[in-house]
Amino acid sequence: MLLVPAGSAHPQAAAPPRQPATRRVPFRVPSEAELRDSAYRISALRGRAILLATRDSLPHNVGNSLRCASCHLDNGLRPNAMPWVGTYARFPQYRARSGKVDLIEDRINDCFERSMNGKALAPSGRDMRDIVAYLAFLSNGIPVGAQMEGQGLARLQPLNGDLKRGIGIFVSTCTRCHGANGQGTALAPPLWGAHSYNVGAGMGNIITAASFIHALMPIDRAQRLTEQQAFDVATYINTRPRPDFPRKIHDWPKGGKPAGADYHVSKEDLHD
Ligand code: HEC
Ligand code: HEC
Repeated sequence: MLLVPAGSAHPQAAAPPRQPATRRVPFRVPSEAELRDSAYRISALRGRAILLATRDSLPHNVGNSLRCASCHLDNGLRPNAMPWVGTYARFPQYRARSGKVDLIEDRINDCFERSMNGKALAPSGRDMRDIVAYLAFLSNGIPVGAQMEGQGLARLQPLNGDLKRGIGIFVSTCTRCHGANGQGTALAPPLWGAHSYNVGAGMGNIITAASFIHALMPIDRAQRLTEQQAFDVATYINTRPRPDFPRKIHDWPKGGKPAGADYHVSKEDLHD
């Protein structure tokens, strides 16, 4: 709000100030106490449970070993780690990948079909309603259309990754949790192979993967990768075999394909 200083009152000052096109608001995780309505609370908390234990909750819709929070770290509540906080307030939204105005349900189903290599939820079914109820709660107090601090991921400028160096970094930095073949362990989910995200996933974009890895991996921050090392290891991971996404041919129907999104389909076999 623009405040009119005392003494400057003027007939025209009574007109409401024009809102800037976007507002920048601080990151804020709402407290559960804000879920006052008991029916709403049950729905939102069930939605949260699905996001945190996706495969156990919806085995028919998940085609890999990931859960939604495998990439949306700290259960989607960490700033600059693709948080779900504030997301609801930015939808509906035109997205170049689909070439249309997407509802939040479309965005959620994108991650089901690509990141989870699974099947879309019925847009008005109970599971989708509960997830949307939870995401709406996570936007409590965030004005519609606002830009929130900490939204998304800090994007790196593209660098050319080197596959050989990437293998070395993978072995020294990632295998202790993600396994020698990137297959996942009890400590961390798979990075490639039949149980990973498919080639159409956002993480399949080399810049997104490198940015995520640079800022957030290893998760215990025992080592810090340089930007170049993040691109090297992301190049290795994203050129390994993973499930295909045949509908990728329909992406970016009106152009606007971003740098780094060159679906890498490996010629190697996809072993289990
Ligand atoms: C393999 C990693 C991965 C997994 C698993 C994953 N996502 Fe995502 N998700 C992404 C990426 C990457 C983006 C795009 C973020 C960006 O570009 O800022 C994204 C974006 C989103 C967004 C939009 C966020 C925003 O603020 O615009 C929502 C909502 C979302 N995901 C929901 C889900 C749900 C629900 C699941 C589980 C069904 C899921 N995601 C699983 C990687 C993942
Ligand atoms: C200390 C253990 C640890 C190390 C080391 C580690 N990660 Fe992770 N990583 C995790 C965990 C745990 C998650 C999932 C977080 C969750 O479920 O809450 C994850 C998630 C991921 C994801 C998104 C989910 C997926 O499986 O696709 C990627 C990509 C990733 N890590 C890449 C890397 C890379 C590359 C390295 C090496 C530079 C690395 N990680 C090192 C623990 C680790």
